[in-house]
Amino acid sequence: MIKIVAFAGSGRRDSVNKKVVKVAAEGAREAGAEVTIVNLEDYDMPIFTEDLEAEKGMHEGGQRFKELLMESDGFLIASPEYNSAYSALFKNAIDWASRKVGDEKPLAAYKGKVAAIMAASPGALGGMRVLVPLRMLMENLGTMVLPTQKSVPKAFEKFDENGNITDEKLDAALKNLGRELVDTLNKLKS
Ligand code: FNR
Repeated sequence: MIKIVAFAGSGRRDSVNKKVVKVAAEGAREAGAEVTIVNLEDYDMPIFTEDLEAEKGMHEGGQRFKELLMESDGFLIASPEYNSAYSALFKNAIDWASRKVGDEKPLAAYKGKVAAIMAASPGALGGMRVLVPLRMLMENLGTMVLPTQKSVPKAFEKFDENGNITDEKLDAALKNLGRELVDTLNKLKS
C-alpha cells in the first residue's frame, strides 16, 4: 500500500494549511493510500545548528520525523506564505530530517519520493509565491514534485467554525490532488 505523510508548514492551532492538508489527505485515502497526518510542532525540534548537532547528536523528534518520511512513498504538504517563502518551522524540520545518522543513505528521507504541494492564505494570492521556493527546495532534495499544485486564496472563508470545508470546488480540487499523488505513485511502483 502507498504510504503518505501529510503535514502543514504552520504550527498554528487553527491553521488553515492544516485544514487544507486534511482535505487532500481524504482524497489520497479514497485512492487507497495509508495517510499519516502530523503536526510539525509536536516534534519540538529546536532551531538546527551544527554545534547543537555536534554536542547533542540528532534530535529525538527530528529523528522520529525523518524516520516517518523515510518509511513513506510521498508527501502532501501545505505551506503558509511567510514573506513570500516558507516558515522557519517548516525549513527547520526539513533540515533536521536531511541529516544522516549512522549508515542511512544521504537524504534518505527525500530521495525517490513524490510530493504534492499546496499553499493557503487569507490573502488574495493564496500564498502562491511560496510554491516556487517550496518546489525548488523539495526537488533539490531529490523529491519529485507533481506539476499540479494548489493555492487557496481567501482561505479563512473556505472553512466553517468546525474546520469543515464549505467550498465544493475547492474540496474537489484538493481531493483530486491527493488522488493524483497516489495515482502517480502507483504508476511509478508498477
Ligand atoms: C504572514 N502572512 C502572509 N500571507 C501572505 O499571503 N503572504 C505573505 O507573504 C505573508 N507573510 C507573513 C509573514 C509572517 C511572519 C506571518 C506570521 C504571516 C499571513 C499568513 O498567510 C497567515 O497568517 C496564515 O493564516 C498563515 O497560515 P496558517 O497558520 O493559517 O496555516
